[in-house]
Amino acid sequence: MTHSPDAAPILFFDSGIGGLSVLRAVQAALPNAPIVFAADYAGLPYGTKTEAEIAARVPALLGRLVERYRPRLVTIACNTACTIALAHVRAALDVPVVGTVPAIKPAAEASQTGVIGLLGTAATVRQGYVDRLHADHAANMKLLRHAAPELVGAAEAKMRGEAVDPLVYVRAMGGLTEQTSGDLLDVTVLGCTHFPLVEDELRAVAPNMQFVDGAAGIARRIRYLTQNQHWPDTPAEGIFVSTGPLDALESLRPALSTFGLTQIKSL
Ligand code: DGL
Repeated sequence: MTHSPDAAPILFFDSGIGGLSVLRAVQAALPNAPIVFAADYAGLPYGTKTEAEIAARVPALLGRLVERYRPRLVTIACNTACTIALAHVRAALDVPVVGTVPAIKPAAEASQTGVIGLLGTAATVRQGYVDRLHADHAANMKLLRHAAPELVGAAEAKMRGEAVDPLVYVRAMGGLTEQTSGDLLDVTVLGCTHFPLVEDELRAVAPNMQFVDGAAGIARRIRYLTQNQHWPDTPAEGIFVSTGPLDALESLRPALSTFGLTQIKSL
């Protein structure tokens, strides 16, 4: 689709709008980067799917997207997809792939108490990938994990301008703080890209908690990987492409346009 190398986009991929929390950081670092944001609404939520379903679905969809949009780089802005399928995607694509995995390392560096929390999808919190992040970066710390699938729906609803029951946020934080040693928890990893979109609401429930996510690190990584590349002189119109029905995206248009995503298409 794209012919001039300057116009080759960065392709973002998530099950829904969660990846906007990563896009926000990348746009701050690279304001003129052409963007294609792909949301697999036909597959949302990923968090309740099996490893086999995700490992089959994500590389296949990304293959089609890369063929259509010829991106210079792919960002899988989804912890669930990455903790399960990052290696499969890298093996299947011939473009650089930047992944999003729970920010356990920065959380461990920030914790004073040695007790850190992870909020993610059910699929993410059970992954061996998380065990390895814990062992590699926080071996001397206690990691409390809690699956908070309700927060995915809450973030989607918020971005559509819909009201969300505030008890959703109370339940999510309670899922960590009510565990053994939960009273010592001082840093919580938002290990699903939807969750930073409701960080203010979570902070209202837990005002002394420090929340961390991977978006800033991903933006730094993308800037590094593209440091010798050229970008257009002005920001181009961004493309939002969904695997689901287009009429279901009408209520998202205002939020998407604040990210410059004004062309809405189906895959
Ligand atoms: N945004 C996704 C993540 O980072 C998953 C949301 C879902 O589809 O369950 O894990």
